[in-house]
Amino acid sequence: MALKRVLSGVQPTGSLHLGNWLGAIRNWVELQKTHETYFCVVDLHAITVSQDPQLLAKNTLSTAALYIACGINPDISSIFVQSHISAHSELCWLLNCITPLNWMERMIQFKEKAIKQGDNVSIGLFNYPVLMAADILLYDTDLVPVGEDQKQHLELARNIAQQRVNSKYGTNEKPLLKVPEPLIMKQGAKIMSLVDGQNKMSKSDPSDFSRIGLLDSPELITKKIKKAKSDSYSGLEFNNPERPESDNLLGLYSIISGQSRDSVAKECNDISWGKFKLMLADATVNSLEPIQAKYQEIIKDDACLRQWINIGKEKAEEQAQTTLRRLKKALGMLPPQ
Ligand code: AMP
Ligand code: TRP
Repeated sequence: MALKRVLSGVQPTGSLHLGNWLGAIRNWVELQKTHETYFCVVDLHAITVSQDPQLLAKNTLSTAALYIACGINPDISSIFVQSHISAHSELCWLLNCITPLNWMERMIQFKEKAIKQGDNVSIGLFNYPVLMAADILLYDTDLVPVGEDQKQHLELARNIAQQRVNSKYGTNEKPLLKVPEPLIMKQGAKIMSLVDGQNKMSKSDPSDFSRIGLLDSPELITKKIKKAKSDSYSGLEFNNPERPESDNLLGLYSIISGQSRDSVAKECNDISWGKFKLMLADATVNSLEPIQAKYQEIIKDDACLRQWINIGKEKAEEQAQTTLRRLKKALGMLPPQ
């Protein structure tokens, strides 16, 4: 039987952080053992907000290198750059023409990002979820491992496939597009900011102290954790609505140290914030050390990294073109001869 297919991506908009790793990429590493896996660097999504052209290509390569450093095996998984496969933009256009405007107006992430952008909101930012649906639907994807924040975008992709494509242009026996399922981890799906336990850790937060970059030095990691927001209670605990920072940092400690939530809750129940932060900093530095060492090796060998991305592109493109042709035909576009 054919393996189920997995696709996911991260934007090359800055350095990846603990949220990206623990909420998404960590899950990819496991899935590649049992699924056919595609992981793209979504540079077309990145330009929905202004990017420095000097940095975009560099960040695209370094994001691909970090995938590998985190454990994605390029011999097993296809790693590719979204803009290398024009079918993504093409399918996005076809889906634009069949997606109702009022579905798009409900998108929470657009509203949040638009507020941050002020007067400078592009049509691309509004369109972002349709491009994401195109990414997913092009590969007949079964499962999409993402963080909690992407749940609504996944729902949109499902609705487009089911209600706007399959039910209108397909038949029950032969659906045109596969309807994907989201895969959101129980733990780590929403890592919060270090400076505010009520806000998610994000690349776009203006404060660098709000997040831990996967490539931050041990000294910087320790400094950021020491400065992280705490509260006036003693001891750490889960599930106290008045203590979002305790919940977040204890949760991080549990995932990073590989111990159960019960066990860290017992261990940290009556220790001081100061002592806890040192334990968390040590655990974080230790868990990122092998990723950082591997990243340094990979990023040095530009030719090899580019070769992996090219191989990933070849495989992905074949699949993408097949789906695109199928949809164009169903929509009635004249095939070239
Ligand atoms: P982005 O940084 O927006 O390109 O996100 C890439 C992936 O990381 C997506 O699957 C997100 O859902 C996930 N992600 C981003 N931020 C967080 C966070 N703070 N906690 C958990 N997952 C996250
Ligand atoms: N929107 C996702 C994010 O910011 C990134 C993304 C783009 C993605 N295309 C995708 C994730 C396809 C999964 C599948 O987190």
